[in-house]
Amino acid sequence: MAAIVEMKDVVKDYPLGNTVVHALRDVDLNIEAGEFATIAGPSGSGKTTILNLIGCIDVATSGLVRIAGSETVKMNDKQLTDLRLHTIGFIFQSFNLIGVLNSPGRPRVIAV
Ligand SMILES: Nc1ncnc2c1ncn2[C@@H]1O[C@H](COP(=O)(O)OP(=O)(O)OP(=O)(O)O)[C@@H](O)[C@H]1O
Ligand SMILES: [Mg+2]
Repeated sequence: MAAIVEMKDVVKDYPLGNTVVHALRDVDLNIEAGEFATIAGPSGSGKTTILNLIGCIDVATSGLVRIAGSETVKMNDKQLTDLRLHTIGFIFQSFNLIGVLNSPGRPRVIAV
């Protein structure tokens, strides 16, 4: 089976004032198509950072992130949008409702 998620030597640093937060250091991760996987770890260990990279919401500082065979660092905005639209689904812990879409007369948005 082909890996749907491939990460190799992934580093993610967040600049924070005069310092840098090393959120991910040399992360390797392979998830095969159809595989059910969980990511577990203490608060601050980098779970959300990994999901943001898989979901193309953020980009790695260095290393390889390949989603469904495409290396995300080489993709333009439109290609990333297509990948997010057709390949990746997120169920958020909070509902992330868009308040403005809940005004009277409009169909209610349950979750996005
Ligand atoms: N935008 C940011 N700017 C600076 N540091 C950040 C940013 N986002 C995350 N971090 C830091 O990166 C590290 C990893 O954070 P991350 O949110 O990925 O952890 P987590 O495992 O999802 O934690 P939790 O279980 O609390 O959700 C933490 O030290 C966090 O403080
Ligand atoms: Mg988190």
